Amino acid sequence: MGTILSSRRSQPRINPSTPNQEFQEGGDIGAESGLKFEKGGAFSQKYILGKKLGQGGFAVVHLCTDKATTEKYAAKIVVREKLAPSDEDDLKREVSILQLLQHPNIVVLYQFLPEKRYYILVQELMAGGELFDRISSKIVYSEKDARDVVILLLQAIAYCHSQGVVHRDLKPENLLLISPDDDHSLKIADFGLAIKLAPGETTSDASGTPQYVAPQLLRGQEYGVEADMWSIGVITYILLGGYPPFSEENDEELFRKIKAGKYHFHEKYWNHISQEAKDIIAKMLTVDKNDRITAKNALRHPWLRSSDDVLGATDLRENLAEMQKFNAKRRLKKGVQVVKILNVFNSCSVREGSVSAAAPGQRKKSLQANNNVHEESLVESMSMNECAESPDSKGGN
Ligand SMILES: Nc1ncnc2c1ncn2[C@@H]1O[C@H](COP(=O)(O)OP(=O)(O)O)[C@@H](O)[C@H]1O
Ligand SMILES: [Mg+2]
Repeated sequence: MGTILSSRRSQPRINPSTPNQEFQEGGDIGAESGLKFEKGGAFSQKYILGKKLGQGGFAVVHLCTDKATTEKYAAKIVVREKLAPSDEDDLKREVSILQLLQHPNIVVLYQFLPEKRYYILVQELMAGGELFDRISSKIVYSEKDARDVVILLLQAIAYCHSQGVVHRDLKPENLLLISPDDDHSLKIADFGLAIKLAPGETTSDASGTPQYVAPQLLRGQEYGVEADMWSIGVITYILLGGYPPFSEENDEELFRKIKAGKYHFHEKYWNHISQEAKDIIAKMLTVDKNDRITAKNALRHPWLRSSDDVLGATDLRENLAEMQKFNAKRRLKKGVQVVKILNVFNSCSVREGSVSAAAPGQRKKSLQANNNVHEESLVESMSMNECAESPDSKGGN
């Protein structure tokens, strides 16, 4: 969906003593948020803004509390001013898709508040934060832990696909947990790039995040729900291996490898992982979309029914250490890497791999502006794919 956001530098600071600021009504929001809601607006009448929970490529998400019930929610806030008309369409599509979907593993949208300055999506609070942060904080991690997550992910995505909805941006930062103590409270969030297709309908609109997109998007080819299965293949690979299957400093090389479906199960990290796990990944990371496993069939794959005891006995300590490194880099890069890829990949299919971050379209321009803000504010400046580096010891990928 839309644009925006926010680094402290990009937003006007709020002087807490200025009268006329809705924030002063209460809540724990710091002056640094820079958000200014209208007095008497629908949001500030009903909610108290709380701390920042997260930030994506287009939105900033804050805790908010219903003044009447004290119930807590997550407010996904998008600055309207920076939205191009096409972004507005994307946002409205996100809202209508979220309103359509009802599944225990999909985040609930409670209210959509279009205000003068912001669009605000009041969503179910995912108080457990991002799944990968939780996993990274673990000391013990097994193949069973990864398998249990993949089951939930597949159930949710099988439901989306049964409704004709393609998420198109499945990646770690969009997998959230309801509760800090329950790894099984997983939900899929951020339907900002999702589309709804009629039965048999396909699209060639290339939207997604580079490391997770299917080869068809890079080739400018038609695709449907199969694109999500590729992304789940990438996520499953990371959940087990601790590092991404496709990782290159250079976008050209990254896209070449994705298009070729060229990845490896490096012995050091994969020799103790079950054949069934490797098999389901291979079936998801299948270049030909017609041969790629569907969510429904993936749910019937033997890996999902493997014995808890056997999978629970797999010690993924070394892989977990890789996951912690991957996650630390990923967090640094957050908000920088979301890309509306647009037609740039069409040119990619003509001139193999000549992809740059630049692409036509207002939304992309907004994104670039956004990237600049982030790059300024990052302590370490990182290249587009640095977070994707494989551990050196594995050898070339
Ligand atoms: N419902 C929620 N509860 C808690 N945190 C959330 C929620 N929704 C999003 N977040 C946090 O905010 C981040 C950005 O939200 P997201 O919807 O992905 O925005 P964008 O469309 O800009 O990518 C997420 O990666 C997550 O860390
Ligand atoms: Mg997101």
